[in-house]
Amino acid sequence: MNLLEEIKALRATVNELKDAPSEGVESFRIAYLGRKGRMKELYAQLKDVPNELKKEVGQSLNELKSLIDHRITEWSASATVQDDVSKEDLTRPGTAIGGGTMHPISLAKNEIVDIFQRIGFTLSEGPEIEDDWHNFSALNFPPEHPARDMQDTFFVDSESALRTHTSSVQVRVMESSEPPIRTISPGRVFRNEAISARSHCIFHQVEGLYIDKGVSFADLKQTLLYFAKELLGEQTDIRLRPSYFPFTEPSAEVDVYWGLETETDYRITKGTGWLEIMGCGMVDPAVLSNCNIDPEIYSGFAFGMGIERIAMLKYQVPDIRMFFENDKRFLKQFKGL
Ligand code: DAH
Repeated sequence: MNLLEEIKALRATVNELKDAPSEGVESFRIAYLGRKGRMKELYAQLKDVPNELKKEVGQSLNELKSLIDHRITEWSASATVQDDVSKEDLTRPGTAIGGGTMHPISLAKNEIVDIFQRIGFTLSEGPEIEDDWHNFSALNFPPEHPARDMQDTFFVDSESALRTHTSSVQVRVMESSEPPIRTISPGRVFRNEAISARSHCIFHQVEGLYIDKGVSFADLKQTLLYFAKELLGEQTDIRLRPSYFPFTEPSAEVDVYWGLETETDYRITKGTGWLEIMGCGMVDPAVLSNCNIDPEIYSGFAFGMGIERIAMLKYQVPDIRMFFENDKRFLKQFKGL
């Protein structure tokens, strides 16, 4: 049999081997591809082949080699777990399963909640699917308010929607408890908004509520100043700008002084050095009445902030979408924070 015929016969044999050979894949590999294997011998004979046949024989050899490689890969891939276990050293120490890390939104949420719990606020939660009363009506949203529009709110059916803010939880707490009330309500909220680097249709808020006799705007301001200093450092300053929310009167937006040192500071503060972090105000007497609290006896303040926004500031995250992509390379950076 000349060399070419021998190669062809071998190819036919390997081709027919559909199942892994009984002597095992590794022995087969050594027999064919090993240092003293069959292929080595065949390649060695190539030098004796007449020049005009070298190309054909060479090609045929290469094809045989590919076929063998292919078979070995196939068999290894389908090797059963049983095979692997039988070969493994079972006394070896197991592979450690790496611990997970806390999500940056959870970290920021925990920190915010913690700061308020230290001054006596309790933790409260409410449902993500809300009715019109708790999300809008009790909070003084007039029927024609744009927030009630399909464009801003995800409706579940004619009666319920995904809550658009955690202010709905303050209604639930006021309805179910007597003042004094000091509570902080973190949670997920939903708005029908285009997704961009700065906004998402699912995000998180923390709502705060304080109701008692004689609560004043000065109490609100001091509480928020305390919060800002705890969150961002003792040197932090805040300012309140008049604003409007249907459920508070008067209402304000709270800015923290961020500084104007770098180009980024200029960009994110639009050249002012101040950054808005939340909305707040004195709970509107009509809202208190809606929740069966007598506004002649009690007054209170409320505030609400976006957790993503706080986390972006604190951890210098440039794009809100990063919080929802679950890219491990991003998440792992929050280990030990
Ligand atoms: N609910 C408001 C929002 O989603 C945030 C807010 C503003 C909450 C003022 C409050 C408040 O409690 O007093 O934009």
